[in-house]
Amino acid sequence: MKEAADRALWGSKIGFLLAAIGSAVGLGNIWRFSYMAFEHGGGAFLIPYLCALIMAGIPLVILEYTLGHREKASSPLAFARISGKWEWAGWWMPTVALFGIMLYYSVVIGWCINYFFFSFNLSWGADPQAFFFNDFLQISSSPFEPGGIRLPILAATFAVWFVCWLICYREVNRGIEKACSIFMPILFVITLILVGWTMSLDGAIDGIRDFYLRADWEKINIIKHFNNADVWSVWIAAFGQIFFTLSLGFGIMITYASYLPKKTDIVGNALWLSIINCTYSFIAGFAVFGIVGFMAKSSGVPFEEVIKGGPQLAFVVYPEAIRQLPFGQSLFGAMFFLVLIVAGLSSGISLIEVFTCSITDKFHWSRKSVVSVICLAGFLGSIIFTTRAGLLILDITDHFITNYGLILGGIFECYLVGWLLKARVARFHVNRSGGMRLNVLWDVCIRYLTPLLLVVLVVQALMGEFRNAYGGYSSGSLMVFGLGWLLVTAIAAVVFTFYPWRPEKLRKIHHEGEDHLLT
Ligand code: ALA
Repeated sequence: MKEAADRALWGSKIGFLLAAIGSAVGLGNIWRFSYMAFEHGGGAFLIPYLCALIMAGIPLVILEYTLGHREKASSPLAFARISGKWEWAGWWMPTVALFGIMLYYSVVIGWCINYFFFSFNLSWGADPQAFFFNDFLQISSSPFEPGGIRLPILAATFAVWFVCWLICYREVNRGIEKACSIFMPILFVITLILVGWTMSLDGAIDGIRDFYLRADWEKINIIKHFNNADVWSVWIAAFGQIFFTLSLGFGIMITYASYLPKKTDIVGNALWLSIINCTYSFIAGFAVFGIVGFMAKSSGVPFEEVIKGGPQLAFVVYPEAIRQLPFGQSLFGAMFFLVLIVAGLSSGISLIEVFTCSITDKFHWSRKSVVSVICLAGFLGSIIFTTRAGLLILDITDHFITNYGLILGGIFECYLVGWLLKARVARFHVNRSGGMRLNVLWDVCIRYLTPLLLVVLVVQALMGEFRNAYGGYSSGSLMVFGLGWLLVTAIAAVVFTFYPWRPEKLRKIHHEGEDHLLT
């Protein structure tokens, strides 16, 4: 379907919602959320998480939807129309999404593809930790020692980019929308089966009760422990997680909303997306804590010693738990890794789409050529993460991009919409588009509350970097793969702004009835 401005439209309301959920529900919901919850106070983590959702997540989803819908544009074009001086910030977001995240995200989906096949004969054997680090990754001792490419990872990463290319190559309503209409029901059904299966295992309920739902309030009490860096780090992690999980600060929701028809329930869609995404994380947490509880009980090792963070949760803890299952090991393993693959692919295509749309908006090249070049270049860029140092580089890049790249994107868009466009103008647009109405509280959030909170968190996070080197890495590797990566992304974002827009692109869209608000 096309509209007058020759921009594709989603085929249906539910198609748009599924695509947005597909982008939001990803690897981050399954292993990132559960581990964050465990590390940061168990059930108590849900409080900063919910605060982050209410004070930054939902207002920003509404903001991104409004910006994309009002301007019918990707983030660079939307930023450029509102203020030419800020176009570079509009490029920052898609550049972070593609070069900062998708390059390693595709490799992690590639690991999942390998592990999907490993599930059939439980290739990880009796020591999944040694298998993951020594046999599969053949990990090197420093990020500066790439030590060769791992061919099975390279091949699976190629498959990921190829599938993404096949989906993104078509217009959104025939590619992304169709793919997500197939992916999302599969994802939800398999997740529910996995959760049900896990809960039936001996020890699962204990793990969930004692480590997921039990709350350590001291870990989040920021008023009592104002000068305690560890308490701040819990709040920073909660905000970082909300950005990552809702795909905020990537420009994705701006792009997706640009394909919506004129009459749209912006607030309703934002609420549905936020509720479904965060409920999915919460439910997935039952599967993770349940399986670790089962494993702790069956092996007699304390829960705290069994659980591990980040990728190890999926690639070490889960394989070990699968090995200990009384029956159906291969089926359970295949289902678990399939969930990760499907969740990862539906998010991966959105990371490609946001960059594609930005390029086609500015350069007027055909979508097919742009997607082909992006996927080829993206695959080549991913190769660094398929080396033996891949996991180490990925860990550093993820930390910096999530904690700074995305949150900076959030600050930029608050300034753009809250102050340059004016929040009341954006709110008028939302209310005129139909559906649930927005009140002045939203203006207060995006002009003051949300950006202020984000600035405080970025400053606190930066101070934390100086106190403790992240992950115990050398300062050289943090400078190159963390700050260096951010810097290269920023330079790339600025370079894209040098090419001029066609004048008609920058022409402001006239929105009836808004004139009195613009003064
Ligand atoms: N929102 C996606 C995830 O959580 C990127 O994995």
